[in-house]
Amino acid sequence: MSVDLIALNPIFNTRSSKFDSARKMEITNVMEYEALAKEKLPKMIYDYYASGAEDQWTLKENRNAFSRILFRPRILIDVSKIDLTTTVLGFKISMPIMIAPTAMQKMAHPDGEYATARAAAAAGTIMTLSSWGTSSVEEVASTGPGVRFFQLYVYKDRNIVTQLVKRAEKAGFKAIVLTVDTPRLGRRESDIKNRFILPQNLSLRNFDGLNLGKLDKTDDSGLASYVAGQVDRSLSWKDVKWLQSITPLPILVKGVLTAEDARIAVQSGVAGIIVSNHGARQLDYVPATIVALEEVVEATQRRVPVFLDGGVRRGTDVFKALALGASGVFIGRPVVFSLAVDGEAGIRKTLQMLHDELELTMALSGCRSLAEITRNHIAAPWDPPRVGSKL
Ligand code: GLV
Repeated sequence: MSVDLIALNPIFNTRSSKFDSARKMEITNVMEYEALAKEKLPKMIYDYYASGAEDQWTLKENRNAFSRILFRPRILIDVSKIDLTTTVLGFKISMPIMIAPTAMQKMAHPDGEYATARAAAAAGTIMTLSSWGTSSVEEVASTGPGVRFFQLYVYKDRNIVTQLVKRAEKAGFKAIVLTVDTPRLGRRESDIKNRFILPQNLSLRNFDGLNLGKLDKTDDSGLASYVAGQVDRSLSWKDVKWLQSITPLPILVKGVLTAEDARIAVQSGVAGIIVSNHGARQLDYVPATIVALEEVVEATQRRVPVFLDGGVRRGTDVFKALALGASGVFIGRPVVFSLAVDGEAGIRKTLQMLHDELELTMALSGCRSLAEITRNHIAAPWDPPRVGSKL
């Protein structure tokens, strides 16, 4: 694939013939979608999805850290049958790869969250809808059956939160994914330079009726100003209890990076933990999620499932996360970029490629089921040397 062949096309959602010919070239991994999306999307929109906070050290590290973990494959095991299925919060899914919440998906493609919901359902996996979707909980539910989670930002006005959670329950969402790393928005410098704003024809549909569906123009990132105005900076562990008191849905806390917080999360009765650094968009110089994962898993003493979000681009990444104790992973940017390039078909292909890569990784490592993936199938840089050991 050569992205050089693609003409820059500044007009939203139109395609040049060169772009079409590039699209016909075979995409063989999910990273290729990002280059194509960059060519296709207006700069403000691509930058919003792509960027991390400040120096973007964690953004790079989310990927680089995976490459420092190596395999210890086992051989001569009959891998003629491989089972990737798993169960998350009691729901059986086709693979341990789920869709993370990403905001404002109609900026990427007119079908936005509708396409994501359909692609996830077709692949037999879970989609998480962002609070800041450009489609509402009811609209996403109208796409048909599928197991879906709802990501929640807690607004200062708790009536808004209560109403929204009730609407998500009624629309059939199965869990609340509570984002806990965003008392203020991280400093994403391209959004500041671009004066990021939601395009005129779109709104944060869950908040339309409340007059909170638009981002106002500011001298800053429009989203940073919106967060400063609406999101509750005082959010604390007591609010997890409050959330539990207003909904029977299980709560996953998303944004845990330390053993200390993992222990409090377990004591607070959450249903699960998502180890996440918000796609490296909040605090820069936090570790890659694949590095933070193991201490969180250990701290939970396996009392709740732990999931990983951040930097997953390959089936090998998924395998490494499972070997370090994750019960599954969530993918964000690969969904947005494949959506931008090819709508629902793009996301389906992304999910299929990651599925097939994970299956192949398992076969080549001698694992026939997810339960057979162990810590001994990988070597991490923080492991003690094996030479001379009795293992
Ligand atoms: C939304 O959650 C964002 O981080 O931009």
